[in-house]
Amino acid sequence: MAEFILAIDQGTTGSTVALMDSAGKLRASVNHEFAQLYPQPGWVEHRPAEIWESVVKGIRALMRKRICKPAEIVAIGITNQRETALLWDRENGEPLNNAVVWQCRRTTDFCEQLKSDGHEKVIRRKTGLLLDPYFSASKYRWLLDNTAGVSRLRKAGRVAAGTIDSYLIWQLSAGDTHVTDVSNASRTSLMNLKSLRWDRQLLELFNVPEEILPQISPSSGVLGHTRNVPGLPDGIPIAGVAGDQQAALFGQACFSPADAKCTFGTGSFIVMNTGAEMLLSKSGLLTTVAWQLGDKGKPVYALEGGAFVCGAAVQWLRDGLQIIKSAADVEALARTVADHGGVEFVPALTGLGAPHWAPEARGTLSGMTRGSERGHIARATLDAMALQNADILRAMEVDIGKRLKPLRVDGGAAANDLLMQTQADVLGRKLIRPQVIETTVAGACYLAGLGVGLWKTPAEIRSIWQAQREFSVQMSATARRKRLASWEAALQRTLL
Ligand code: G3P
Repeated sequence: MAEFILAIDQGTTGSTVALMDSAGKLRASVNHEFAQLYPQPGWVEHRPAEIWESVVKGIRALMRKRICKPAEIVAIGITNQRETALLWDRENGEPLNNAVVWQCRRTTDFCEQLKSDGHEKVIRRKTGLLLDPYFSASKYRWLLDNTAGVSRLRKAGRVAAGTIDSYLIWQLSAGDTHVTDVSNASRTSLMNLKSLRWDRQLLELFNVPEEILPQISPSSGVLGHTRNVPGLPDGIPIAGVAGDQQAALFGQACFSPADAKCTFGTGSFIVMNTGAEMLLSKSGLLTTVAWQLGDKGKPVYALEGGAFVCGAAVQWLRDGLQIIKSAADVEALARTVADHGGVEFVPALTGLGAPHWAPEARGTLSGMTRGSERGHIARATLDAMALQNADILRAMEVDIGKRLKPLRVDGGAAANDLLMQTQADVLGRKLIRPQVIETTVAGACYLAGLGVGLWKTPAEIRSIWQAQREFSVQMSATARRKRLASWEAALQRTLL
């Protein structure tokens, strides 16, 4: 009997459901978007029921393709937008509120208060993270304080909390399993990086009760089984779970220390494998858990820098400014001009992440003249996507004290040749694009396949990964310096 892995990539703007065969080939995938809610400036929410519906729709659509029989699915892998936090009722699985999305800035004041009370140091030391509204802990706090009926339900032991991975596993197992994996837990600000457990001091600091949180599990190995999922048989093992950036690192076969990747999604994230070492950044980057393979596996750590708005900037050109009809049109529009023509777009639409950490910053468009066109704004947007990564890469090289290996790129926008060339040019580093750019979903498949023994070791997966194209630096050092200086000036205007 043929064997397949079904993976769910629950991203910020949509859910992808994909099938991989036992040779490691992605055979099909479907994507369904859902609504983004912006109830106040700087706030971002999702309706959890819509997220689950988009996953169920995806499973149904995928199975209708008849690539495999339901009984041939030997494992399920899950990867997800990280940090996004929600509460639901243990009795019926009903969400108690909208999910507070990772990009949401509503807990800025609370985080500032903790900072001025001097708590950042201990948080940094124990979690590898900074004190910022980005991470889940302050979002849980907000939800517990602002959700109707929550104290009554808490008294009855009915409140469950979790990130999106936990919520999906709960739904897929009809409430049998309340777990999260180490990579997702490492983004909450509540897990101790060393012990891989919820940390009492941090729970007290954020005032989050441990009994509402999921159990922390490895990223690979059987964590639960399907029950009552439309279109799927009961009893399929859920055997691989990781946050999307960590899954992408795994999908890029970045298994050795110093291997690094950059994923272009809603945001863009550079992550470097640091092996057994928890490298604490001095340059505004994060230390995080990459994965843990099985109960007995040692945790693999990573250094990460993320820009909150990457593909989301192109969506804003489409939905906000309406200067393109579809996201894919941005490359053609940007190619109508030779360069950015002095126009700079700093897409701080939800504040700035690494290495600046400025939750109150807001986007700026500057440098326009009478001759500026839509093309310049499109070009400045692609440039900004690349320039943000250049700032992060520089910070990473300061932390590791040497040049990074050629960066592996992935995610939807990695298909954009102009963006990739711009990225290589402003980095002054070679990029490698793999044959499969959906490495996030591939990573979830690999983790699940390893979890049920379909593959025995990551080395088997390394042989599946293949490069498709390299992008070498074409820009002169002088031109790069000039481009970076113009960007830096725009950044300073944004950070004022
Ligand atoms: O930390 C947020 C990240 O997990 C979101 O990823 O792919 O939706 O940009 P993405």
